[in-house]
Amino acid sequence: MTPPLISSVPNSIDQTTELLRQGGYVADRSLSTALFLALTMKRPLFLEGEAGVGKTEIAKVLSQTLGRDLIRLQCYEGLDVSAAVYEWNYPRQIMAIRLAEAAGKGSAAADSIYTEQYLIKRPLLQALEKHNGGPPVLLIDELDRTDEPFEAFLLEVLSDFQVTIPELGTVKADAPPIVIVTSNRTREIHDALKRRCLYHWVDYPNVDRERAILKSKAPNVGDKLGAQIVNFIQNLRGMELFKPPGIAETIDWAEALTALNAKELDASTVDATLGVVLKYQDDIARVRGDVAANTIAAAKKAAG
Ligand SMILES: Nc1ncnc2c1ncn2[C@@H]1O[C@H](COP(=O)(O)OP(=O)(O)OP(=O)(O)O)[C@@H](O)[C@H]1O
Ligand SMILES: [Mg+2]
Repeated sequence: MTPPLISSVPNSIDQTTELLRQGGYVADRSLSTALFLALTMKRPLFLEGEAGVGKTEIAKVLSQTLGRDLIRLQCYEGLDVSAAVYEWNYPRQIMAIRLAEAAGKGSAAADSIYTEQYLIKRPLLQALEKHNGGPPVLLIDELDRTDEPFEAFLLEVLSDFQVTIPELGTVKADAPPIVIVTSNRTREIHDALKRRCLYHWVDYPNVDRERAILKSKAPNVGDKLGAQIVNFIQNLRGMELFKPPGIAETIDWAEALTALNAKELDASTVDATLGVVLKYQDDIARVRGDVAANTIAAAKKAAG
């Protein structure tokens, strides 16, 4: 029988680890500590790390295990207030005015079109509203993709958990949302924003943790194959490739090899499936052949 989910905010580091584990997420102690402190101190958690190390997944798992709504703001260059916070629904406003004019009440309509009814709420505004089940998890994903003016704006929102809509007034959260900010570090995020948050660098997992992740995410993969895959991938990460494989690639590869009925790594299957693990032709060309064969031998030896 599976234990009941811990639905309230955890009150220890161990409970935080357990909460993540219930969502299939295998955390190391430093991550659990950072998350526990962020939840306890009600501060945003800023997660930085290479691609595919499990940054976004933390917010998803947290919302699921705590039973909170997940609100996701995906960042991109040019993201602005109308996409991130709110926008007036102009077509509906114009329609309302036309209808009012037709009914001979045009001037009255002009006052009533700046009401909530005509407001399109975007993620940041949604996150400040009351949610059944408690404050939502607000995921501000890949912040490094936005530009600095938006970052400055975000700083204000994260400081006070409020936004001002000139025509309506100020919207303030009763209780702050649980905020997870992620970045792939394609550029540095401003110190002022980082200072509002607790910071954690999400690193590649060690062998033991990656095996545990694989067990959790791809339980059908045999132990022997799983151990060899993890060793192989860990070796690749030490090779200074253009784009080292993340955990997502480990899981994908394990599933691919299992689908091919592989029980162990062998040179021809590895060469044929490198595209699941490496996504740049230069990296594939470098590994395919001798390097792969040597890495397989090393991976098997380490797996025992
Ligand atoms: N510690 C972990 N426990 C369980 N699964 C994990 C863990 N870390 C990563 N994963 C899995 O790896 C995959 C990639 O994770 P995720 O998308 O969160 O990475 P990311 O760091 O946000 O990457 P990107 O920077 O590319 O967005 C997910 O499918 C997730 O399930
Ligand atoms: Mg991500």
